[in-house]
Amino acid sequence: MSRFFLSTPIYYVNAKPHLGHAYTTITADAAARFHRLMGDETFFLTGTDEHGDKIAEAAKAAGVTPRAYADDISGLFKNLWPTLGIDYSRFIRTTDPDHKKCVQQALQKVHDQGDIYFGEYGGHYCFGCERFLTEKELVDGLCPDHKTKPEFIAEKNYFFRMSKYQGKLLDHIRENPDFIRPRQYRNEVVSLLESGALEDLCISRPKTRLEWGVELPFDDNYVTYVWFDALVNYLTALGWPDGDDYEKFWPHAQHLVAKDILKPHAVFWPTMLMAMGVPLYRHLNVHGYWLVRDTKMSKSLGNVVAPKELVEKYGLTGVRYYLLREMVFGHDASITDEAFVNRFNADLANDLGNLFNRALAMTHKYFGGAVPEPGPVGPDDEELAALAGSALANYAALFASFRFSRALESLWELVRGLNKYIDVQAPWKLSKEGNTERLSRVMYSVLEGMRKAAVAVWPVMPEASEAMLAQLGRPFSLETADLGREIEEWGLSPAGVEVAGKSNLFPRVELPKQDEPEGKKEAKKKKSGKKAKAPAEPPKAAEFADFLKLDLRVGTVVSAETHPDADRLLLVQLDLGEEGTRQVVAGLAEFFKPEELVGRQVAMVFNLEPRKLRGQVSQGMILAVKHKGGMELLAPSGKVDDGSRIS
Ligand code: ME8
Ligand code: MG
Repeated sequence: MSRFFLSTPIYYVNAKPHLGHAYTTITADAAARFHRLMGDETFFLTGTDEHGDKIAEAAKAAGVTPRAYADDISGLFKNLWPTLGIDYSRFIRTTDPDHKKCVQQALQKVHDQGDIYFGEYGGHYCFGCERFLTEKELVDGLCPDHKTKPEFIAEKNYFFRMSKYQGKLLDHIRENPDFIRPRQYRNEVVSLLESGALEDLCISRPKTRLEWGVELPFDDNYVTYVWFDALVNYLTALGWPDGDDYEKFWPHAQHLVAKDILKPHAVFWPTMLMAMGVPLYRHLNVHGYWLVRDTKMSKSLGNVVAPKELVEKYGLTGVRYYLLREMVFGHDASITDEAFVNRFNADLANDLGNLFNRALAMTHKYFGGAVPEPGPVGPDDEELAALAGSALANYAALFASFRFSRALESLWELVRGLNKYIDVQAPWKLSKEGNTERLSRVMYSVLEGMRKAAVAVWPVMPEASEAMLAQLGRPFSLETADLGREIEEWGLSPAGVEVAGKSNLFPRVELPKQDEPEGKKEAKKKKSGKKAKAPAEPPKAAEFADFLKLDLRVGTVVSAETHPDADRLLLVQLDLGEEGTRQVVAGLAEFFKPEELVGRQVAMVFNLEPRKLRGQVSQGMILAVKHKGGMELLAPSGKVDDGSRIS
């Protein structure tokens, strides 16, 4: 039996949870659900980190005991998770009695084998990071993460011989290239280790300075340094050294963190494990930051987004989808209302929502609401089945390696493929022609594809997935759902099952009024003011991420005609290869005769939201240059396949 163990960081209880914590925990939840859906036995661990200077300080400032303070904030995290659909196996607190015992066992083990010594050390201590920073790590004398000046602390303490394991760790990382992923973080750790600068790790704090911690088992004048305490939680939860869960799950252990705590997880923790004689975890998965205007969202900077408010505004389904789809795992990402609304409307309201709306309505119109017994299979149906198989297989492979955004893109190839299949098969025509046999196969195929997509998306948006499956008459249960089988087999939907008449699961969202982007407000002002045309201001610099949102393609004009109700517009049909044919309404009539365009390859914006221009649907925009002499169309310098992406 396959197994999966995944942990999130245990969060400090010095401030309330924000979107950054929510992202990590939702991502971990999605990964855990994915493994459950693949039939793996799964353990998903999260919790809170409650000892150390930071918490002691925060409690003091609040005028309560550290324990009371920790209880309060830990409760905020614990109570938030279910409202975000997070289904963990254990919520661990470093103040739990079994954890205290486990930390002491770990320390004793490392001590017994001679890897802990007593000595004096002075260094730059960052209270935000709860660790000494090396000279190299400082930027202008400040901690690069917290923008504060570290304090110089010199005292007698216990040290872990971390430097001793430098070479062994480097070898391990070289032999296991995806031990730390994505690659950029592995490279970062490799260059740190190659520089040969690894120091020993101070693992104690004198009680004279800090009492809030786990007492060292070999010297009661000291408490354990908070990172040595916190990291051990991953073993406590499994009952190390002899618990059943430890035996079962530790060989499958993976951690999930953001890049702020790369060093403790990629260097402290594996060297600690080596010293303890425990095999190393399988993968450390490292993600980037959620940014607010180019700056990391963080409690110390006070620029945080509250997950609850976001969910109240947009609903849990949209929020989970956005977080996983928008952040390319490993890179930074930002959240704005505009980006959220665009993403939600394009992927959920349009692609997935419309698919459900129209397919369920058609099933009622043509077959009284029951999944039809399908007629014979044709080549188009086989193609659709093959698309479903490959889209789901890619989805699963990408999901398993923490490339969530790419995984969802892959799944949406199926969603869009189903919409296109409906357009091409045109069930309404088959019905008019009385071709019930063909119609039954077409509707069966659509419903089967929808069911597969609904099952596959369960890890990301469990509520919506379960609602979709209920609408399809196949209520979700983890016992029977099997993503592996969905990849392999087509035709698992039984005929005769009743489906819902309406779906409406993803109604479009609107941009909150006050948050309209500046550009649009300006444009509106200008319009209503009817001012003389001012020269267009050069647009603000676009971020690379903005550019990436554009999907630009090459297509061939297969036909063009004048718009029935607008002289300046042409209705242009573009062949986009595998993407099918699309109509674009273009303001080209002044410059081109329709027949001049036919056969030409043009560049077009592929992912513009469809809109109606004088009653005709336009799906995209043809790129052209207007100049004194007239207008020229943009095209590749040589012939390319239709549908090719421009980048
Ligand atoms: O470091 N974007 O706790 P912490 C993305 N207790 N993720 C973010 C984020 C952002 N802007 N801000 C925070 C600690 N996170 C230690 C961990 S583990 C043994 C001990 C998330 O409360 C992200 O997962 O500072 C990051 O690694 C974590 O919160 C840091 O949480
Ligand atoms: Mg932090």
